[in-house]
Amino acid sequence: MRILSGVQSSGRLHLGNYFGAIRQFVSLQDEGEAFYFIANLHALTTVTDPAAMREFTLDAALTYLAFGLDPARSVLFRQSDVPEHSELFWVLGTLVPLSHLERAHSYKDKIGKGIRPDFGLLAYPILMAADILLYAADVVPVGKDQKQHLELTRDWAIKFNQVYVPGYDPADPNGTAGGPVGILHVPEARIQEDTAIILGTDGQKMSKSYKNTIDLFAPDAVIKKTIMGIKTDSTPVEQGKPVEGSGLHALLKVLAPAEEFALLDQSWRAGGQGYGTYKARLLELFHATFSAARARRTELEKDLGEVEAILRRGAVQAREVASGQIDRVKRATGLAPA
Ligand code: ADP
Ligand code: TRP
Repeated sequence: MRILSGVQSSGRLHLGNYFGAIRQFVSLQDEGEAFYFIANLHALTTVTDPAAMREFTLDAALTYLAFGLDPARSVLFRQSDVPEHSELFWVLGTLVPLSHLERAHSYKDKIGKGIRPDFGLLAYPILMAADILLYAADVVPVGKDQKQHLELTRDWAIKFNQVYVPGYDPADPNGTAGGPVGILHVPEARIQEDTAIILGTDGQKMSKSYKNTIDLFAPDAVIKKTIMGIKTDSTPVEQGKPVEGSGLHALLKVLAPAEEFALLDQSWRAGGQGYGTYKARLLELFHATFSAARARRTELEKDLGEVEAILRRGAVQAREVASGQIDRVKRATGLAPA
């Protein structure tokens, strides 16, 4: 089984990225051949300051390593170090109907927030599909917000195969029922349903773009300030508190062990405790959950040369797979001699 995923280096990584993505990356790395990359070409749609781009890329690499992604077991690399991503992006894009891109949720959400759309934002899902199809990934662990991108990836892989593989049967997309095998392997999303969407400090989806994150590696004082500043309503201490739309309640749910959460939830609904008490407990749970990774990152920061070397070795390994796939695509399309 081949596993592939990535996170955009568009800001410092946060709790949502951990529970939605990185936690699964770690547990999947022993279930197959894993490729995890830093999607810096995707980040270029929002980060235009070169110093910030370098900083966020390094942050992502350190985060991967601090949580235990192990270069001996997984291929860790930077997207821009593997030019085949951009090559497949173009070829695939020639088959993508504009209407698919215009109806993508992430695109519509961003426009809805007043971001002026450019070609990069519109084409973003094609690059993501290329990332996945270049490695013939079977399984792609992502958060729920990426589900539609995976569906588009599947549609486009099937379309490519229909156009370029004689006798290809879209009802048997990976040839498992005896039909011809496509050139592009049709992947599956792996979404952890229980923690699918982590809410931020304002009760909306936690996201770098909404400035409502709890960053995994911020200094202790910043973590404390952020957690104590989580938005709550003015329900009096003695009254039961609303659950719907409460970022604090949702965060306790993901960070507290199940039995403890059952008790917290009970007292939350019954009343008698102020929000401050729950925030203080959330802060302790944050440190209990992340202190090992935070300490490991401090160690890794002492040898950034080694981090860079890991990414370079990863890119060499990634290119071995990616270049084979691009060759097949070029032969199938007639871009290269058969
Ligand atoms: P952001 O929205 O902060 O820019 P990304 O889009 O870079 O985050 O997401 C990287 C990974 O983390 C993706 O797999 C995404 O699904 C996951 N992720 C991001 N935010 C959340 C969240 N609030 N809850 C669950 N998963 C998330
Ligand atoms: N779009 C993804 C996100 O925002 C990041 C990403 C880019 C990705 N390419 C990918 C995830 C390929 C999985 C596979 O989270």
